[in-house]
Amino acid sequence: MTTYDLSEKVAVITGASSGIGLAVARELHSHGMKLTLTARSEDRLAPIKKDLHATVLVGDITEPSLPRKLLDLAISTFGRCDVVLNNAGIIEVGTIDEINIDKVCEMVRVNVESAYRVAYTFVKYFMTQGSGHLINLSSILGTKVRPTAGAYAGTKFAIEALSEALRMEVAGTPVGVSCIEPGLVMTDLHRNWSVHPSAGMNIPHPLQPEDVARCVSFILSQPAHVKIPKLMILPSEHQV
Ligand SMILES: NC(=O)c1ccc[n+]([C@@H]2O[C@H](COP(=O)([O-])OP(=O)(O)OC[C@H]3O[C@@H](n4cnc5c(N)ncnc54)[C@H](OP(=O)(O)O)[C@@H]3O)[C@@H](O)[C@H]2O)c1
Repeated sequence: MTTYDLSEKVAVITGASSGIGLAVARELHSHGMKLTLTARSEDRLAPIKKDLHATVLVGDITEPSLPRKLLDLAISTFGRCDVVLNNAGIIEVGTIDEINIDKVCEMVRVNVESAYRVAYTFVKYFMTQGSGHLINLSSILGTKVRPTAGAYAGTKFAIEALSEALRMEVAGTPVGVSCIEPGLVMTDLHRNWSVHPSAGMNIPHPLQPEDVARCVSFILSQPAHVKIPKLMILPSEHQV
C-alpha cells in the first residue's frame, strides 16, 4: 500500500518554540517537509529557524489576524500549505478558592478562540486547494475531567467538539482532520506548578514531546482511504 509521501510538503506549526510543537517541527523536517513556524519567543525561534530552514512569524496567537498571516507566509514562501498543527496552548488550574479567573479567560482565548481561528482559516483553504490536514492538540483532558482542571478540560472538550464536527464536514474529501489526546508530556507547560504532575499523579516517566511527534507523522503517512480522527497517547504509568 502506498503511503502519503511527506517530502516537500508544507506544514504550519503554532507553538513551535518549545515542547510538542518544536518536536513535531523536528520530526516533519526529518521527513523532508518545509516549515512555517510561530510563537511569541523570538529568541527561542531564531536558532530553530536556522536549524530547520523554516520561515518564522513571531507573534501572539490571540492576535486575530495571525492565522491568516501564517497561511499567507507559507503560501508566499513555499507556494502552498499541506498541514497545520494547531498546538499553541497554556494551562491554568486551581481550586475554587485559588483559581485566577483572569488567567482562565486568557487560557480560553489561546486554547479555544485562537485555535478556532486557526482551524477555520486553514480548513477553508484546504477545501479550496482540494487537499490538506488539520491536526489539533487536545488532551486526555479533552475526554474526561479532574477536580481543579475543569476550565482547562473545557478548552480541550471544545477542541474535541470542533474536530469531530469538522471531520464530518470534510468526510469524503481529501482533506483530513485529526485530534491528538496526549496524557502527561514532559514540556514547559507545567513549569510554574509548585508540584509537577509527574509527582502529583505518580507518573515518573511521562511522555516525551518526540512521542507525540511520531503520532503526527503516523497520522500524516496514512494512505488516502484511511483517516485517523483521534489518537490518544498515554504514559504507561497513567492510571486515571
Ligand atoms: N504537556 C502536556 O502534558 C500536554 C498534554 C496534553 C496536551 N498538551 C497540549 O499540547 C500543546 C503544546 O503544549 P506543550 O506541552 O508543548 O507546552 P509548551 O512547551 O509550554 O509549549 C506551548 C507553546 O505554545 C506557545 N504559546 C503559548 N501561548 C501563546 C500565545 N499567546 N501566542 C503564541 N504562542 C503561544 C508557546 O510559545 P511562546 O511562549 O514562545 O509564545 C510554546 O511554543 C498545548 O495545546 C497543550 O495543551 C500538553
